[in-house]
Amino acid sequence: MYKINDVTYEQIFEYIDEFNKKENKIIDELRVFAEQNNIPIIKKDVENFLKTYLNITKPKKILELGCAIGYSSIFMSSVLNDDVHIDTLEINENMYNIASENIKKFSLTNINVILGNASDIIPSLDQKYDFVFIDASKSHYDEFFSLILNKLKKNAVVICDNTLFKGYLCMDRSGIPKRQKTIYDKMTRFLENIKKNKDISYNMLPLGDGLLVIYFK
Ligand SMILES: C[S@@+](CC[C@H](N)C(=O)[O-])C[C@H]1O[C@@H](n2cnc3c(N)ncnc32)[C@H](O)[C@@H]1O
Repeated sequence: MYKINDVTYEQIFEYIDEFNKKENKIIDELRVFAEQNNIPIIKKDVENFLKTYLNITKPKKILELGCAIGYSSIFMSSVLNDDVHIDTLEINENMYNIASENIKKFSLTNINVILGNASDIIPSLDQKYDFVFIDASKSHYDEFFSLILNKLKKNAVVICDNTLFKGYLCMDRSGIPKRQKTIYDKMTRFLENIKKNKDISYNMLPLGDGLLVIYFK
């Protein structure tokens, strides 16, 4: 267990979370809904990082892969006082419907939820983005990353969530449960390709389930 003095990482995490807490009724309600319905959304520490990142960089066009109920896109919009356009892609029709309802409920006209497989939709997008947040099927990150390359503005940043895949990426392949091996292999290949790519710089941060930040040289 990672410790500073006699304080555990959990205590540090709770303290930071409490310190950073700002009441935001919309966001708080959505997080409770997601938790009650077992819908995976960005972890609090990822949220805090994104808030800092967005406040510093103030992107005008964001592409998100993996919308779920719209939590992260509504959150990102609120950080930027809705002065941003967000295209967010979702493959699951039920999630798409809930996200669309949430976005309508909060009268947000700057968030465009698109139903379909990101692999099919990305090539048809006619925008260029300052920031891409990848938070969809973990076995397709390599493909998603290749597809978004010609959709990026100069100096764009790409952030990928869950790149440690429940911590499995830190383990030897022999210890990975059989049903998780495919994602493990595909995420490993994606990270190896990132390391080999001479056009980018990157940093994996110990936030959420591993947050990979990629920027272009
Ligand atoms: C972790 S959730 C996204 C959470 C959301 N970003 C948030 O934090 O509020 C991942 C979502 O990606 C969607 N998804 C998975 N594969 C996809 C694909 N190929 N194209 C579009 N959406 C996909 C899933 O249906 C799921 O709703």
